[in-house]
Amino acid sequence: MRLFSGLTFLPGIAGALAAATTSQTKTIPNSHPAIYYHGRWDSSPGTWWAGSGLKLHVKHLCSLALNLGPHTTAPFAAVGVSIDYQDFFTVNASAGANVIPLSSSLADKRGDTTVVRINVEGWQNNRINLESVTLNSDAELLPYGPSRLAFQFIGDSLSAGQFLPLGVDQAWPFLVGEHFRAEHRITAQPGATLTDMVSYGNVHGVSFQFFRTEDTGYYYTTDHNFTTPWNFARDQPPATHIVIHIGANDASHSISDADFVEVYSKFLAHLRTIYKHQPIFVFTPWGWPSADGSISQYYEGQYQNIVDKRVATGDKNIFLVDTTGWVTFADVFPDNQHPNVPGHAKIAAKFAAWLENWGLRAAPQWATPV
Ligand SMILES: *[C@@H]1O[C@H](CO)[C@@H](O)[C@H](O)[C@H]1NC(C)=O
Ligand SMILES: *[C@@H]1O[C@H](CO)[C@@H](O)[C@H](O)[C@H]1NC(C)=O
Repeated sequence: MRLFSGLTFLPGIAGALAAATTSQTKTIPNSHPAIYYHGRWDSSPGTWWAGSGLKLHVKHLCSLALNLGPHTTAPFAAVGVSIDYQDFFTVNASAGANVIPLSSSLADKRGDTTVVRINVEGWQNNRINLESVTLNSDAELLPYGPSRLAFQFIGDSLSAGQFLPLGVDQAWPFLVGEHFRAEHRITAQPGATLTDMVSYGNVHGVSFQFFRTEDTGYYYTTDHNFTTPWNFARDQPPATHIVIHIGANDASHSISDADFVEVYSKFLAHLRTIYKHQPIFVFTPWGWPSADGSISQYYEGQYQNIVDKRVATGDKNIFLVDTTGWVTFADVFPDNQHPNVPGHAKIAAKFAAWLENWGLRAAPQWATPV
């Protein structure tokens, strides 16, 4: 007992230290209803697929840290962060506490609110396992009101932002979402076919994996080596516009025109069980441009065929987006022919103009203004 009595002064000091610490920060658990999750999250909760993430609407924000758990990619997952709808920047986030650098101008905004948007940038090494968020203790977490426009993009490397410095945050689907001040969900898997087959490291095709929580990277993990159905009721608000750009990898595996049309038609019928009334936009390929100015095409005429077949079933809300000529050799990385950063911006501008001509208008302001 003498040993313990010697420690009796400690609670006073410890209490003072604890008070000093808690007067600076407070920790919000991942279950807080005001955390707006988007994209695909498993129950840990952890992200899969490039672009998945969270949004926070905070009053009096001065400091922010993400506390990540063991299902986070090691050594880190590249995370894109945007404060108050400004440009995204990268934070390499790891298991443990990750301080998010906030602009010092936020200190002048006290009394106002801040929106922080966070998403994983990569098509691989893209898992963040959110345990909690730490804020300055006088910050107040408010609900984030999502846009009433919500895009669902479906694709492969050409949509996932593979090879871009900021990954999906510089890819045309993401930029289109930004243009319209929309929510964007991007379910795109580099190397994947639409056909459910093994392709360039993907154990499944998009016609299977789109309906799952996990991207095909699950197969290469030891802590989550399985895949589970995605509960589409978790997409809130439900997608309002569906955009599909796929087929490059089917073509490179010599899937025939007839087989591709069949798998695509079945995929559309499956999508219609979830997206009953939403417009669906089917991209033709822009092709693979070469230095000599030629462009290698695939499935020419087949995308029109797919849309026509669907219309013949009575589905009038499906549209072909002819991207012929959108991408030239100047718009791609010469060594892999994927769009470069200005190339993605060009595609985004072309598709935004196409959608405006079709009748879509950008929201006049973000749904949660700052
Ligand atoms: C993230 O890590 C990559 C690879 O190590 C590095 O090139 C990049 O500079 C890092 N970015 C930041 C913002 O720390
Ligand atoms: C994941 O499980 C499959 C069998 O379903 C196995 O072939 C594969 O090697 C496993 N991956 C890892 C990284 O353990």
